[in-house]
Order: sequence, then C-alpha cells, then structure tokens
Amino acid sequence: MSRAKVYISHSLGLPDITTQTLLKQVPCNLLPERLPKVDLRTTVCSRLLLGHVLAQATGQSQEDIQLARSAYGRPYLLGESDTDFNLSHQGPWCAVGCVQDTLRSWGIGVDIVDSTQGNDAPSRHLDALRPHLTLKEHMDVSGRPSMTDQLVQASRIWGAKEAYVKAIGLGLSMALNRLEVTFHPQDNRITYCLDGQDLHKCSSQWFLLPRDDVVDPYTLIVALVPISTKTQMGGVDVAEPCFVALMAT
Ligand SMILES: CC(C)(COP(=O)(O)OP(=O)(O)OC[C@H]1O[C@@H](n2cnc3c(N)ncnc32)[C@H](O)[C@@H]1OP(=O)(O)O)[C@@H](O)C(=O)NCCC(=O)NCCS
Repeated sequence: MSRAKVYISHSLGLPDITTQTLLKQVPCNLLPERLPKVDLRTTVCSRLLLGHVLAQATGQSQEDIQLARSAYGRPYLLGESDTDFNLSHQGPWCAVGCVQDTLRSWGIGVDIVDSTQGNDAPSRHLDALRPHLTLKEHMDVSGRPSMTDQLVQASRIWGAKEAYVKAIGLGLSMALNRLEVTFHPQDNRITYCLDGQDLHKCSSQWFLLPRDDVVDPYTLIVALVPISTKTQMGGVDVAEPCFVALMAT
C-alpha cells in the first residue's frame, strides 16, 4: 500500500516581513503563472511549502525543480517523475499533497474550503452551490437544522468534488453534479459515484483545520483517484496532515 502525504502551513506562521520580501524567497520556477491580487501572502506561503515538499520528494534542490501546466491549468513535475502533487490555498491555510509510485497510477487532488464562507451572506453562498448538488446531496443539505449547518455541508460537498476534479486534472471544466459524494464520519472517508457508478478505487479523506473565531473550521479534502488501469497492488491511503513551519528569512 502506498501512502499519500499531505503538508499544511499557515500564512500567520510566516516571519513578520513584507509579502514582497517573502516572495523573493521563492524560486521563479515555483511561482504561479499569475500572482493573485487577493490573498497573495497565502499564495506565497503555498509556494514556500511546495518547494519544501517537492525538494524532499524528488531529492532535487528547489531551484532545479521544473514544473509545467496541463491544458487545464494543473501543475506537474516535468520529466520522468514518480511523484504526483496538488495544492490548495484558502484564507490563511495552504496545503500540498503528494503521492509517489513508480507506475504513476494515482492522481492526487487537494482542496481547502472555508465551510462557513466567512459567515457572510449564507443564503447567497448556498444558492450558488445548489446547482452543483445531486438530488441526494440536496436532501442531505436541506435536512440540516440551520442555514449555517446547510452551508457547511454544501461547502464540504463542493470541496470533496473539487478535490476529485483536481486529482483527475479537469478542474471545473467537469460538471460537478455528475459526481455524488458520501461522507463516512466514523473514519473521515469520502466515497464517490460518477454518473451513478461507484468509484470503488478512489480514496478520499477529510480533515478539519482549526480556526479561532468559528465553530466550523476550514475543511481540507484529499482525493486519490486511479488515473491508469495499472494501479499499484494494495491501493493507497492518506496520512494525517503534517504541519510545516516555514522558516523563510
Ligand atoms: C483549480 C480549480 C479547480 C479550483 O481552484 P480553487 O478552489 O479556486 O483554488 P485552490 O487554491 O483550491 O486551487 C488552486 C490551485 O489548483 C491548481 N490547479 C489549477 N488548475 C488545476 C486543475 N485543472 N487540476 C488540478 N489542479 C489545478 C493550481 O496549483 C492552483 O493554484 P495556483 O494557481 O496558485 O498554482 C479551478 O479554479 C479551476 O478549475 N480552474 C481552471 C479554469 C476552469 O476550468 N474554469 C472553468 C470555470 S467554470
């Protein structure tokens, strides 16, 4: 059995220097195509984390790592690599997931969702998520007692779907209501159906990321999806996220 690793970090843990100074610590080869105008600090944090994780996984220096992007925008390692990775950044959190197997048979997808969308206009956020839900998911969401509970559940369903479409690389170009997710709270597992067919081999886990000001924190979802028929014996599972304190100076 292979084990996927997930690393998380938090932009509030970065040294107390300007974002522009932090940005200079990131090798150009690891930067995104376009720097965002909002949440730049978390994006920079995600790149410091990405450099750390990929250097460890590949044995290369951060400067030597070469990345490319697929036609759908998914970043990947150039060359013969047994490593697949994916990243997400949301609010102050960032996460990088990574899976290594010689057959390159697993795709990993990572998504962080702010389950309460910052407590801002819950009914508007809920309305935006509804078209992406299946009938069963609608019933699951509507059965929750309060608007906040409904939004938390709808957001987590959305995040679980995003993690899947990021693992296969299609991103939001795939209609999310083709997927149906089921949460298994006893072991934090998520299972998927695509167009009504069970995706038995997918393995997905969720983890809660703490947040001081609200009861329902950020949720991190990690999906592992077989991307070739030659999947390694024994499958793959996800280790507990490992917090990385980034010590850029
Ligand atoms: C990537 C995407 C799935 C979700 O992003 P999000 O939840 O807003 O943001 P996250 O922080 O979780 O993930 C963003 C990261 O995913 C990665 N990513 C981008 N496209 C990806 C794809 N197709 N598959 C997997 N990962 C992808 C990138 O590393 C990106 O971060 P970066 O731009 O800093 O490098 C979504 O923005 C997307 O599909 N974009 C492609 C454009 C598209 O299809 N648009 C159709 C609109 S209907």
